[in-house]
Amino acid sequence: MAKHTVVTMPGDGIGKVVLPEAIRVLDAVGFDAEYVHADIGWEFWVKEGNPLPERTLELLRKHKLGLFGAITSKPKKEAAEELDPSLRDKGFVYFSPIVGLRQKFYLDICIRPCRSFAGNPLNFVRQKADGGVEEPSVDAVIFRQNTEGLYCGIEWTSPPAQVRDALATHGKFKPFSSVPSEDIAVSVRLFTRNACRRILTAAFEYAEKHGYRSVTVCEKPNVLRETSGMMEEVAREVQKEHPDIQLWSTNIDAQMMWLTKNPEDYGVIVAGNLFGDIVSDAFAGLVGGLGFACSGNIGDEVAVFEPTHGSAPKYEKLDPPIVNPIAMILSAAMLLDHVGETEKATNVRNAVAAVVREGRVRTYDMMRIPGEGGVIAEGAAMTPQITDAILDRLER
Ligand code: NAI
Ligand code: MG
Repeated sequence: MAKHTVVTMPGDGIGKVVLPEAIRVLDAVGFDAEYVHADIGWEFWVKEGNPLPERTLELLRKHKLGLFGAITSKPKKEAAEELDPSLRDKGFVYFSPIVGLRQKFYLDICIRPCRSFAGNPLNFVRQKADGGVEEPSVDAVIFRQNTEGLYCGIEWTSPPAQVRDALATHGKFKPFSSVPSEDIAVSVRLFTRNACRRILTAAFEYAEKHGYRSVTVCEKPNVLRETSGMMEEVAREVQKEHPDIQLWSTNIDAQMMWLTKNPEDYGVIVAGNLFGDIVSDAFAGLVGGLGFACSGNIGDEVAVFEPTHGSAPKYEKLDPPIVNPIAMILSAAMLLDHVGETEKATNVRNAVAAVVREGRVRTYDMMRIPGEGGVIAEGAAMTPQITDAILDRLER
């Protein structure tokens, strides 16, 4: 029997293209695992009214380790219209299955490392005052609170009377008191002290373990006084338990500006759910974009690893496939780290680094050309060719 069982959830679109590539790498590196497929995504919303079927949850409960590709989400109205006619008007409401997965298993710690690989033509470069160009090395690791904040799903268009009444107890509701309910939409940004403590503790421990000297809390406490304020307050407490790591604080808006000026100044970053999503995509953009952006969703029992990109539906049907599998492969390397297979994880990352540095095999995104059917004629690699090149560079 294999040592690990990994639940594989390819999902939709290019999730189905990149996930098998990651498994080829895990096999080649000698990871002792078997894989069980689990259903997730749009197809199951349309057919069953549930994009995250109970049988998938059961497999994750049992095996505790998941690899996820990507899913397609659509706005409320479109989702309802695509539901199988036999299921319509039966009270099915679409909710993103990956957000659902994070909440159901309390995968509250989302880690998104954004590290530049030398030789990547997509790396951030900066013009110097003398007209020259420099390429600072980026090494930022975003810790995104993954279960609360604006993603907690507590929201209404046309809030019911009790909710309106509750809102009216707040002095700041006065200007809205004459707006008809149907013209009001509310999304709740809810933070709990416990979740703030958990994400901050994870971040400080990571900083300590990996030699970062600071943790930056990236919120907006001057305006979002209660939620961001709580994150900052707890950060000051947690920092006291890690006196060797400095606590820095930035506002999300200023952070978005500074990261394109001096990205090398930042190491470990902590943010709530939405700001964490935003700032991690921004850092990803400095190290190659979505084709390089990996992540782990980690709870006390279950962990699911996924590229941060979505299902990129326009690329799904391209045959041969042309999307970059590196984000998915680096996510698989994070899975290896998680189960203590650090050497194998390093082997994978070194092989990716070698392929990027050599630059002989590149997907269209690394060539900075629009992703269309014709890119292969222009010299872009097909998806599996990137994996082949990585396999060639693995230490065996
Ligand atoms: P997306 O990440 O799917 O694609 C945006 C663009 O990024 C693509 O058009 C492509 O140009 C580029 N790209 C993404 N992955 C790439 C790769 N591996 N190699 C090369 N280029 C790549 O985001 P978009 O278009 O906003 O969303 C498409 C669908 O995915 C939506 O239904 C959205 O809800 C869903 N989504 C799902 C996520 C998840 O499953 N975790 C995350 C983000 C979006
Ligand atoms: Mg995102």
